[in-house]
Amino acid sequence: MKIGIIGCGAVGQKLSKNIQKFLSDEIEIYAICDVDQTRANEVARSLEKSPKVYQDYKQLIKDVDFVIEVATGDVVPDILYHVTKMGKKLMVLSVGGLLKVPDISKLIQESDSNLYVPSGAIAGLDGFAALKHADIRQVTLTTRKPPKGLKGAPFLQKKSINLDLIQEETCVFEGTAFEAVEAFPKNANVAATISLAGIGPDKTKVCILTDPKWTCNSHEIEVISDAGRMVMFTENHPDPDNPKTSYIVTLSALALLEKFFEGIKIGV
Ligand SMILES: NC(=O)c1ccc[n+]([C@@H]2O[C@H](COP(=O)([O-])OP(=O)(O)OC[C@H]3O[C@@H](n4cnc5c(N)ncnc54)[C@H](O)[C@@H]3O)[C@@H](O)[C@H]2O)c1
Repeated sequence: MKIGIIGCGAVGQKLSKNIQKFLSDEIEIYAICDVDQTRANEVARSLEKSPKVYQDYKQLIKDVDFVIEVATGDVVPDILYHVTKMGKKLMVLSVGGLLKVPDISKLIQESDSNLYVPSGAIAGLDGFAALKHADIRQVTLTTRKPPKGLKGAPFLQKKSINLDLIQEETCVFEGTAFEAVEAFPKNANVAATISLAGIGPDKTKVCILTDPKWTCNSHEIEVISDAGRMVMFTENHPDPDNPKTSYIVTLSALALLEKFFEGIKIGV
């Protein structure tokens, strides 16, 4: 399978290395692309088998079977548009960007494309899948991050919240997943993922807490349904090779790719 990766940052770099390490018989990283050409060239050179470097992701989409987006939510609707037009497969990591697409299911159904969203920084999406035919009444996500993980979010600026002044556990945001994606575009991928898996971005409740004493990110998801109550808790360590991203994120994307080639499927 010929893969093209859009975005050569923390996640893109680690994922491409992992694909070449663990899936080299099944997958060829045919092309990569980044708005930062120097970075893209450096990443291509650093890989064992150097892929082609494209300037334009539309051309990359044309030339591969499977596209992996690891860039930014802003470009996700456009990438999805081109991927569905050309009938390619797409994995999206900047999941918040998918909430800007009005009816994704219809778009995918009417195309020859498939869309894949890895679990990313959380666990427990198998539970959501199992509850597809039960009535999910409430989904609440509580994200805990040290202040440095929230820096630069538009919502903090809008509300004049100075993270440097926070000294104890503080709730900086409460709202729906849809609002969380607008308010914290770089921190709300988990909110977007669970809202797509569950009851949608307008009904999924999100709370973002911060405390300077915390050293890692955690996510707690509570689901209340006819089938019972589920609580999933994930505490993530940074990737040892690149502390900008959580270790589990690239592993989760890799696991999703590995599923294509595995004969045994465990979990929903
Ligand atoms: N689903 C999850 O759980 C999860 C977890 C971590 C990160 N993410 C998301 O994955 C994405 C990548 O994360 P990262 O840590 O690697 O970010 P990063 O900032 O390190 O890298 C992003 C790269 O994409 C490039 N880029 C931006 N716009 C582009 C465009 N139009 N075309 C091509 N390249 C472009 C940037 O130049 C940069 O090199 C982010 O959107 C992030 O929010 C999702």
